[in-house]
Amino acid sequence: MSRRSLELTDAVYDYLLRHGVRESTALSRLREETGRLPAARMQISPEQGAFMAMIVRLMGARRVLEVGTFTGYSALAVAEALPADGHLTACDVSAEWTAMAVAAWRRAGVDHKIELRLAPAQESLDALLQGGADGSYDFMFIDADKSGYDGYYERGLKLVRPGGLIAIDNVLWGGSVADPGRQDDDTRAIRAVNEKLAHDMRVDVVMLPLGDGLTLARRR
Ligand SMILES: C[S@@+](CC[C@H](N)C(=O)[O-])C[C@H]1O[C@@H](n2cnc3c(N)ncnc32)[C@H](O)[C@@H]1O
Repeated sequence: MSRRSLELTDAVYDYLLRHGVRESTALSRLREETGRLPAARMQISPEQGAFMAMIVRLMGARRVLEVGTFTGYSALAVAEALPADGHLTACDVSAEWTAMAVAAWRRAGVDHKIELRLAPAQESLDALLQGGADGSYDFMFIDADKSGYDGYYERGLKLVRPGGLIAIDNVLWGGSVADPGRQDDDTRAIRAVNEKLAHDMRVDVVMLPLGDGLTLARRR
C-alpha cells in the first residue's frame, strides 16, 4: 500500500501515540516536567522510547550503555524494559539535567538498575574499556554531542558484544543532512558518521525515519 514512510500530520501523530505507545506514569510525568525546560526538545519522543524498550525486550538485553542522558527519559524507557538484574550505564556531563533523571528513576523504582557516570562520555567509555568491559554490552544508545559521535561509535563497537546493537540518534538532523546549504559542524559530523556506517562492513545497518532519524547498527 505504501512504498515509503508516511508523513505524519498532527492528527495522525496523535492517533499513533494513543494507539501505539504505552507510556508508563513515570515516563509521562518526566515528559511533562522536561517539557517545561528551555532545552526540552532534546528529549526523545515517546514512540522512540517505546521502540527502544521493545528492542531491549526482543534482544533479551541485560546490559545497556547510554551516551547522552539529559533528564533521563530514554534511560527510564529502557530500564523499565530490562530484567530485575539488568544494568544500564548512563553517561552525561550535566549534573543539573541528570538530577532530574535520578529523581525520575527513583520514583519509578528502577534506580538500582542505572549507574550514572558524570564525565565527558569519551572518558567514561575509555574507563569502561580500561576496566575490561569489552564485548560486555548488549545495546548502546548514542544521543549526545554530535562531534563526538564517531568516537562513541568506535568505542561502542568494542564495548558491545558481537550480535549487539548500537542505536544512533538524530541521524537526519531535522533534514539538514540532505541540505547542501547546511555546513555547520554538527551537520557535517552527522553526515560523516552516516557516510561511514553506510559502508561499514563491521555492522549490519538500517536507518529509520523515527523521531529525528535513528540508525541501528548490529555488530557482526
Ligand atoms: C539530546 S540530549 C539526550 C537526550 C536523552 N537521551 C533523553 O532521552 O532525554 C544530549 C545530552 O548529551 C549530553 N552531552 C553533551 N556533550 C556530552 C559529552 N561530551 N559527554 C557526555 N554527555 C554529553 C548533554 O548534557 C545532554 O544531556
